[in-house]
Amino acid sequence: MEDIETLVENYRKEIGDFTLSADQSAETFRIKYLGTKGLVKSVMAEMKNVPNEKKREFGQILNEFKTVAENKYEELKQLTVNSQQSTENTIDLTLPGDDLPLGSRHPISIVKNKIISIFQRLGFAVAEGPEIEDDWHNFTALNLPEDHPARDMQDTFYISHPASGGTDWMLRTHTSNVQVREMEKGNLPIRIICPGRVYRNETVSARAHCFFHQIEGLYIAENVSFADLKQTLYFFVQEMFGAEVKIRFRPSYFPFTEPSAEMDISCMICNGKGCNICKHTGWVEILGCGMVHPNVLENCKIDNSKYSGFAFGMGIERIAMLKYQVKDLRLFSENDLRFLKQFTSAV
Ligand code: DAH
Repeated sequence: MEDIETLVENYRKEIGDFTLSADQSAETFRIKYLGTKGLVKSVMAEMKNVPNEKKREFGQILNEFKTVAENKYEELKQLTVNSQQSTENTIDLTLPGDDLPLGSRHPISIVKNKIISIFQRLGFAVAEGPEIEDDWHNFTALNLPEDHPARDMQDTFYISHPASGGTDWMLRTHTSNVQVREMEKGNLPIRIICPGRVYRNETVSARAHCFFHQIEGLYIAENVSFADLKQTLYFFVQEMFGAEVKIRFRPSYFPFTEPSAEMDISCMICNGKGCNICKHTGWVEILGCGMVHPNVLENCKIDNSKYSGFAFGMGIERIAMLKYQVKDLRLFSENDLRFLKQFTSAV
């Protein structure tokens, strides 16, 4: 009995002297003294060896011991909280956080996405094709045989590579190559738009670049007429530039369409009155289009007695320049943040 008394006495002293080292928390104490395998429990277990008449007296001693341990635990917990608070005091949690610098979309991407979403509402799906292309898909299938003078309209970057096996590789000069690739798949009807980057061997200036972006459109089905083309493009223009904008078609020439046209929109800067942007004509050209040439359908193994279609192609930079009144094409590829951060996702 005395042994237990001395034991308890020693433990009480031990608890009294207990301090936490830097890497310990109140939990260290709890486990050692108050846990299921802790010292308080083991001393309590001694109760069974205490004769009945002494149980009351010992019960009191042991309960006191337990309370001492519990109080110490509370004290240590409080200490830990206080010391945490004292380091936290240097951080004011009510202050607003640091700015996370967010990027913004490139204006070409914003305009591209807007064009895509307008045509998607008309049932057009997005199709893509390779930027490194062979002669067939970029030229020949589009009714531009080898010696066709219209090949000179687009100065082409050719690629010569010993492994090319005699194929004439080139950087595509337009996104019309995707038309050919989609038609060759033979899943009719076809209603696609094809956004992508194109390349031309041009001297870089405010109005021309050696690479830029286009969106091609193609619709092939039975009984497609020029009226369908006109209405589709009219819808696009109204959605893109506003309901008051008018369109006009001028006869033009592209080898892959017959008839061919270029489409102008009324200048949205001066409302057709005449300004620098429209060179005082009241109109600005935005795209080329036409009815797909029967030869192109035939080259892609589509029955041209049953199917007809229209196609169009526009430069995304051109649309973006008109939309945002940007006067120099080079700004789009120079990655000057002062320019780029002026564009938000809303068009
Ligand atoms: N491929 C032409 C160009 O790059 C644009 C074009 C004109 C595409 C008429 C077409 C079209 O699909 O029908 O200048």
